[in-house]
Amino acid sequence: MVWQGKLIVFEGLDFTGKSTQARLLGEDLRKQGYEVTLTREPGGTSIGEQVRQILLSDRNHDLAALSELLLFMTCRAQLTREVIEPALAAGNVVISSRYRMSSLAYQGYGRGLDLDLIRRLNDAATHHRPSDLVIFLDVGPSDALARRGAHPDRIEQEEISFFQRIYDGYKQLLLDEPKALIVPATEDIETVAIEIRHQMQAISSAENDRV
Ligand code: TYD
Repeated sequence: MVWQGKLIVFEGLDFTGKSTQARLLGEDLRKQGYEVTLTREPGGTSIGEQVRQILLSDRNHDLAALSELLLFMTCRAQLTREVIEPALAAGNVVISSRYRMSSLAYQGYGRGLDLDLIRRLNDAATHHRPSDLVIFLDVGPSDALARRGAHPDRIEQEEISFFQRIYDGYKQLLLDEPKALIVPATEDIETVAIEIRHQMQAISSAENDRV
């Protein structure tokens, strides 16, 4: 049971299918006998979902970058204490759509806030708990924004240059991430899901060989 008590995080730009792939992976791991806790950021708790409304409402265009960062951290601190820590302690595998890397990519590279400050806040919000595996769904800004719907939220309304900075930032951050899968995600849902399974299987086999 390689993934027992582990935190698996999906990352990537908006419209890359993170929530769908998180759900499909969760179903798959449940079939393999794991207890699975699925969650998402911002949100995932009652307080976090209320803060999510503030963050994404397109009435809040005057939200300052630092305020935005602190609100994402509020969601993360709440989610860590209410959901992630208890679930990991119970031996569940936790699958989250977004986690610490999102703030570094969006508020750091996207908004230009200080990366060290974000790292310190991430450590405080998560009690220094890194993820065990990051699955980066790789869709570039123009392909991602082509999937933008009729009612984009406050962040989804940003210009392509913002998403380009975030995408480049993710690529930079992934270089320093010891456990990351980069999965091309422009294909259909099923093809992407199979590729994720395939890459995770390779990790499980390597772990099993090691012990
Ligand atoms: P997302 O998971 O993409 O929501 P959706 O359910 O619409 O797919 O997250 C909402 C937005 O919040 C998204 O534009 C990315 C942004 N975000 C940050 O800017 N920083 C963060 O730390 C997090 C967690 C999300």
